[in-house]
Amino acid sequence: PGLAVYDPGFVNTASCRSAVTFIDGDKGILEYRGYPIEQLAEKSNFLEVSYLLIHGDLPTKEQYDAWVHEITYHTFVHENVRDFMEGFRYDAHPMGMLLASVGALSTFYPESRNISDSDNRHMQIVRLIAKMPTLGAWSFRHAQGKPYVYPDNDLSYTENFLGMLFKMSERKFEADPRLVKALDVLFILHADHEQNCSTNAVRSVGSSQVDPYSATAAGIAALYGPLHGGANESVLRMLRRIGSVDKIPEFIDGVKNGKEKLMGFGHRVYKNFDPRAKIIKKACDDVFEVTGVNPLLEIAQELEKIALEDEYFIKRKLYPNVDFYSGLIYEALQFPPEMFTVLFAIGRTPGWLAQWHELVQDKEQKIARPKQIYTGERTRDFVPASERW
Ligand code: CMC
Repeated sequence: PGLAVYDPGFVNTASCRSAVTFIDGDKGILEYRGYPIEQLAEKSNFLEVSYLLIHGDLPTKEQYDAWVHEITYHTFVHENVRDFMEGFRYDAHPMGMLLASVGALSTFYPESRNISDSDNRHMQIVRLIAKMPTLGAWSFRHAQGKPYVYPDNDLSYTENFLGMLFKMSERKFEADPRLVKALDVLFILHADHEQNCSTNAVRSVGSSQVDPYSATAAGIAALYGPLHGGANESVLRMLRRIGSVDKIPEFIDGVKNGKEKLMGFGHRVYKNFDPRAKIIKKACDDVFEVTGVNPLLEIAQELEKIALEDEYFIKRKLYPNVDFYSGLIYEALQFPPEMFTVLFAIGRTPGWLAQWHELVQDKEQKIARPKQIYTGERTRDFVPASERW
């Protein structure tokens, strides 16, 4: 008692034991349940990866079919949730709408508070993964003043999401399979990243044994902050500001003189390269093959080339991170910047839930309650207002 280590931001403190995601920042390794991210991105799909994250192992054919079936048939949300969403201001930020509507789901499924029952936990996990694209797509349509599109359960998870976002007629929605695959890969790349700010928020709130909708809403709230979910949007703004390749040297000089940061570069954990950034470059090529090249790509590629050869960035081990190219892809897919974080949230949901599921089954896990170093006044006698004023 009385002994505390001061570690703001938990930079040196392990807050839990976890078997979900392994990262070796020096070697640029990211593995979900032991499977390298490169292999998952190339050979798996987002729903299979979600199963892996939640259950710990890859599914058999029967398990996979049952999982996809369950998720597909829980994509609809209660009509009152729809009414609730319609009540937002016309210009409401989609992340604010997502945060509130996911929190609201807890009131539609009050049995979700019984977190000691494993069947019940499974049901809520399925519901959350299934409904996130519906809520995310509706928050996008709302901002555009367009009617909400109901899920089409004949489509795959990711194509259905695109349909709810972009469908403009009664005709069956069809997207180019290369775009569907690219978005699916982006979801896989974002699916978990061990104890990042939003996952820590899910665990911290979940440790009070609240229902998973409320814990997930806490994760969304953390992701809403610009230091966590907003970097890819800043990359686009930066590229636009640079404007042309010949302005890059001047911009780099400004970065080196401490005027600003090169957004999309550097990472707290990865000090060699971010394995997700390598995969994203390939997704970028695939998307631009369909949509035509984003004019900012040339600036991004040249900027990367110059930075990687520059002593300042080499010395500080600064490499492109996942956000350097993801914004360019999202923009090519017709997403406005305020939707980028919603996409991140949909991708991260299975990771949050895998970590939540691990937490509630961990007998050693206590309610999150860090210590503090008290810096305020000590015992003082209260002086009533009549004597103070
Ligand atoms: N541009 C220029 N200099 C940089 C950058 C950058 N992007 N990142 C770090 N540095 C410098 C920093 O100024 C410091 O220099 P010095 O030693 O001279 O003081 C040195 O590199 C070490 O930086 P740090 O701030 O101690 O590194 P950190 O691990 O605390 O920060 C970071 C990591 C991601 C916050 C930071 O690199 C950054 O702000 N990058 C730009 C924003 C960005 O792209 N964020 C997305 C991160 S990936 C998303 C995810 O995984 O969820």
